[in-house]
Amino acid sequence: MNESNILRRRFLAHVGQTSPSPMMIPVERAEGSFFYTPEGKAYYDLVAGVSVSNVGHANPKVVEAVKRQAERYMHIMVYGEMIERPQVEYAAEITALMPEPLESVYFVNSGAEAVEGALKLAKRYTGRAEMISMRRAYHGSTHGAMSMMGEPEGEEWKNAFRPLLPACRAIDFNNFDDLQQITEATACVLCEPVQGEAGVRPPAEGYLQALRGRCTEVGALLIFDEIQTGMGRTGAMFAMTKYGVTPDIVCLAKAFGGGMPLGAFISSHEIMATLQHHPTLGHITTFGGHPVCCAAGLAALRYLLEGDIVADVERKGALYEALLADHPQVCEVRRSGLLAAVELGDSAKLFRMMEMFAREGILSDWFLFCDTAFRISPPLTISDDEIRDSTRIIRACLDRL
Ligand SMILES: Cc1ncc(COP(=O)(O)O)c(C=O)c1O
Repeated sequence: MNESNILRRRFLAHVGQTSPSPMMIPVERAEGSFFYTPEGKAYYDLVAGVSVSNVGHANPKVVEAVKRQAERYMHIMVYGEMIERPQVEYAAEITALMPEPLESVYFVNSGAEAVEGALKLAKRYTGRAEMISMRRAYHGSTHGAMSMMGEPEGEEWKNAFRPLLPACRAIDFNNFDDLQQITEATACVLCEPVQGEAGVRPPAEGYLQALRGRCTEVGALLIFDEIQTGMGRTGAMFAMTKYGVTPDIVCLAKAFGGGMPLGAFISSHEIMATLQHHPTLGHITTFGGHPVCCAAGLAALRYLLEGDIVADVERKGALYEALLADHPQVCEVRRSGLLAAVELGDSAKLFRMMEMFAREGILSDWFLFCDTAFRISPPLTISDDEIRDSTRIIRACLDRL
């Protein structure tokens, strides 16, 4: 039995499973846009850990920062007590890139925890209970974040875990009429500026502005979930700056940690301060803002800025689109920067593509709420040659559908 098969057997025997059909590709190492099996088979990573590995795998700057910080100190004390340089520097540098008044960063461990913190903050600040999300939105798998999952129909996931949080409901993304459902009873509206797991749905012209306007009118806080869209993915450092709309709270995770587990919810001092009082310790997190994760995230941010990587993201996304959109099997390409869904209009075709991809050395996947399209969200550092070569393989698979 080769090494990969031994690993597969032990994986099935001892590692908790999320589905009956995991991809089960053993990973030995990863670099740039690729990862490799123990036998040396290379895969183009067109998922990037679902928009995590924006600066490429094994980015030397990030690896160096992790090593350096691990040698200095790792965990000292639960989040919020000590002054830890990686947290302070990262908070200062990331908020310098954000519109006012987003100036106060509350570090946590993950995307779901960032969403939990943001929801609690909105309830605490407004004194209201109702929370509104968008249909076909995914915000995480904890009870609170799952309560805000806007499942399209049937609510199969949510029903399996009820009772969830009360007073949560969903409206349709990009539906201007639905904005009237946001009222003086609403604590917050949670929205991805570009919907990810819905199969990449950019906002309609003027929609985010109208959403912002309605929230301001009724005193509801607007929370942007930029967990997938942040850190350059859509061709701007944040989708909120790309679309020119400032939320009251923004959630970051995924690429925010430069490949390490890190999340944050970010707001004004005034709003954030409510977590300090009545009761104190409004959100407790032991490992939130782990110094090694903050050092990694900061190194990744500086890498994006120094290399002017984000400025080239839209062009690279457009190149993928141009190389794929004219194939007769492709119905449409929905895209914002390097976050793209290639729509085939048929889930059976999509699953056949996935089988071919696995054989041909391409890692892609579909979306939680769209199983007729495959994902293209590679590291933002992918080269033009790699884009051309990976689309050559994808087109050869499409030809065989
Ligand atoms: C938009 C969005 N929000 C939140 C999450 C949850 O993040 P995590 O898996 O780190 O809890 C995800 C994860 O896929 C996501 O795509």
